[in-house]
Amino acid sequence: MRRGEKAVLALIGLVVAGGMLHSILHVEGPHDREIPYYSTATQEVAEKAMDIYRSQDCKNCHSLWTLKNMMESVPAPILDGIGTLRTESWLYDYLSSRNPQSVIPSRLKKEYQMPSYAALPDEERRVLAKYLASLKVKDWYLEQTRKMEYEKLTGKEPGK
Ligand code: HEC
Repeated sequence: MRRGEKAVLALIGLVVAGGMLHSILHVEGPHDREIPYYSTATQEVAEKAMDIYRSQDCKNCHSLWTLKNMMESVPAPILDGIGTLRTESWLYDYLSSRNPQSVIPSRLKKEYQMPSYAALPDEERRVLAKYLASLKVKDWYLEQTRKMEYEKLTGKEPGK
């Protein structure tokens, strides 16, 4: 290859790479690298609640932070941001209900439905509710979170 050809190839390479870089930077919105979820809980509440969360197998059905659910096919709602969608007292009542499906009707087979945690000690239900209520979503991701929750609960897209 002659020097001139090399220079031309190098130039083409640069233009292509530059174009790719440009489109990557361009497609990315201002929030794309930002995690939209956060918790306002104290470390103590978070640790207590996450111990219960693990021991009660919530993670088998739900996902929260990076604790992905094991059965990917189970369409339980994600719990990230749930404290922006529900209040602490709602969450406490829901966890205390003997029949959670009377609060949120389920579209799923019995084995995938939200179990009743009414038998859990009251203190544990309170800590869980407190922690869940602390799980917030940033404003710019609220609509998206609402939409995902709605789809999980109904199996439908909003407005349909
Ligand atoms: C067997 C699967 C399963 C387990 C285990 C489970 N859940 Fe659920 N959960 C669901 C499903 C499914 C729903 C949606 C309602 C339904 O279909 O019954 C739900 C709903 C919820 C909701 C309401 C979400 C909303 O959109 O308002 C909360 C909060 C919740 N679960 C928390 C928990 C916590 C905390 C635990 C552990 C103590 C837990 N779940 C354990 C399956 C499960």
